[in-house]
Amino acid sequence: MVPRKVIAGYADALSIAAGESLDVKVSVEADVESYRCDIVRLICTDEHREGPGLVEEVIDSPVNRSWPARRQSIHVGSYAAVPEMPALGSFTAQAWIWPTRLGAPQTIVAQGSALAMELDESGALALALGGERFASGRPLLEREWAFVAASYDAGSGAVRLIQSPMRHYPGFDSRADRRFHARPGQRFEGELRIAARGAAPDAMSRHYNGKIDRPRIAGRALERAEMDLLAEVAPPAALAGDIVGFWDFARETPGARIVDLSGGERHGVLVNLPARAMTGFNWSGDTGDWRVAPEQYGAIHFHDDDLYDAGWETDIRFDSDPALPSGVYAARLVVPGAPPEHVVFFVRPEPGARGSDVCYLAPTASYLAYGNYRVMDCGPVYEAFQGRLLVAGPEDLFLNEHPEYGDSLYGEHSDGSGICYSSRLRPIVNLRPNSPLWIFGGDGYLTWWLERFGYRADVVTDEDLHEQGQALLEGYRCVVTGNHPEYWSREMWDAMKAWLDGGGRLMYLGGNGFYWRIAFSEAYPGAIEVRRAEDGTRAWEAQPGEYHMSFNGELGGMWRRGDRTPNQLTGVGFTAQGFDRGTYYVRRPGSFDARASWIFEGVGADERIGDFGFADGASGQEIDRYDAALGSPPHALVLATSEGHNDNMLLSCEEFKSTHMMLGGTENPKVRSDMVFFEIPGGGAVFSTGSISWIASLAWGDGDNNVSRITRNVLERFRDPAPFPDLPQE
Ligand SMILES: [Fe+2]
Repeated sequence: MVPRKVIAGYADALSIAAGESLDVKVSVEADVESYRCDIVRLICTDEHREGPGLVEEVIDSPVNRSWPARRQSIHVGSYAAVPEMPALGSFTAQAWIWPTRLGAPQTIVAQGSALAMELDESGALALALGGERFASGRPLLEREWAFVAASYDAGSGAVRLIQSPMRHYPGFDSRADRRFHARPGQRFEGELRIAARGAAPDAMSRHYNGKIDRPRIAGRALERAEMDLLAEVAPPAALAGDIVGFWDFARETPGARIVDLSGGERHGVLVNLPARAMTGFNWSGDTGDWRVAPEQYGAIHFHDDDLYDAGWETDIRFDSDPALPSGVYAARLVVPGAPPEHVVFFVRPEPGARGSDVCYLAPTASYLAYGNYRVMDCGPVYEAFQGRLLVAGPEDLFLNEHPEYGDSLYGEHSDGSGICYSSRLRPIVNLRPNSPLWIFGGDGYLTWWLERFGYRADVVTDEDLHEQGQALLEGYRCVVTGNHPEYWSREMWDAMKAWLDGGGRLMYLGGNGFYWRIAFSEAYPGAIEVRRAEDGTRAWEAQPGEYHMSFNGELGGMWRRGDRTPNQLTGVGFTAQGFDRGTYYVRRPGSFDARASWIFEGVGADERIGDFGFADGASGQEIDRYDAALGSPPHALVLATSEGHNDNMLLSCEEFKSTHMMLGGTENPKVRSDMVFFEIPGGGAVFSTGSISWIASLAWGDGDNNVSRITRNVLERFRDPAPFPDLPQE
């Protein structure tokens, strides 16, 4: 019997500087009055029976005590709220819509509690008016644009419902224009909602799934031709006195506000981060960049399971000591008999107060991207990947019972569209000890190893690097990555590149790194965005025309499809993945070159490197290879290459060409990890292992092994300010 997880929490930050405070928010789902909190420093975060186990050290703090338990809930589903609305008598409500999940009643636009233009359970347009209900009786089609309108004349009580799909098909004609009679003289008051109804964030219902474009409200029952005018991109002068709301979703695309052009300043706010920069009903296909043709990107895609900020109350405020060493920490929360919760946070050094010449860049963007990854939703695929049956832990079962905690950037919304935003303002139950080796759990072997060999590395996060840029890395001799630094913003990349060009030294100890482009947002602190565009080994595909990110307009997708490749930065790039077992490396001629032979001091010429480890072997899970054609520097030395992969290690799809049909590790020569080293003019250097599993071998045999030896040799040399010898310039 797996013990049930009953406690979850998150904090207002993932990274604090020593001396800053952290607000921890907790929910307990058990009938207990209290739980215990202890602040711990996390040193090893994987409990493999042959490894160091869970190593954590309690930090003295007044918050280390018992706290009263309470339950806090999460309210998912995105919508827009417009607080300032005049009362309506006669009206017209209209929009272009692209519904994606018909079958449940859902709101397109609603005012107060008495007026709602909706889709009913059949998928037909409906109008709720006072206590009365009217419906077109003709279901719309999913993923087809349709113009919909509802009008009411308060004088006569005349109601009209119009459905005008962009396309119609034999047997699937969803056109409708129906007239009804309602009680005359009604007035409607209250705030306006788009894509849901309800008065308060914790009391929303009837969420809409799909896109809405050009929602409009007029203060009288318009004629059909007037509705067309109102659906124009700018407010028509002919209707000047009648327009109540004229929201243009193409304005302020990166933000959380919707802009009203009616002149009445009826701007609204978006709740729970619906997808913006979405193609509108009028997208021509001629451009994929919303910045080029904003009028074609007037749609917002709402989902009934969107989530940005869980909005929990703070339970524990932890004031960190200014002398607290930089490191990986957690608020450990314990209810007896249940698995402990660790609310993980990172303590970075105060600016200018470096504590080490080595800096561990914790891949928190990857942790966010994989945040609340749901193995139970992808059971058979997961089993094929792993080559073994799915094992679900307490966190997986908990997520299964709690869809409202949100999914990862690998999941899909309830309507099947890909999840392109992830936020840390919610409990992330797999950012914990014993999470998979390819995320936080595995990186504990690196922090353990750094500790074991006396390197008190400072710790900074991806988000810190994004915000502070190159200045964050200044003064460090060497930056060490985690096992899976997959998600990079342009700002992060620029900072790393500039620091390397200034003499920095990077140890890329992972695989599948520098792979997806992401964006951060000023409007949504703590959130990241990805667009899984066109190509790449990806869990879902962005819709055509929706490859540019809403947060900053940049083209999303793989870095290698843009102006830079991981190979340029690290010497290697993603080539294959497979999760059933790892394998070893063998030395290549480059490892005997005088430029790099010091890396192999203490390692025999024929020694297998990493034929051990907590992921079975040092090359595995996701692996990268040297490829000059993809930008690996020609002077980079290939030091070692993995061999012995099996056919569960599969070539990445972006590498697949129709001329080679062999995909697996036993046949395809591209399925391999390459370990590389190269110098950068100016004193910098890069060492890359090209494998997620490398770090999981570091701690094998108490750290006495050749993976550890090689890593130490590199780290010692990279800490040494002595320049690398100039390369001959023949
Ligand atoms: Fe990955």
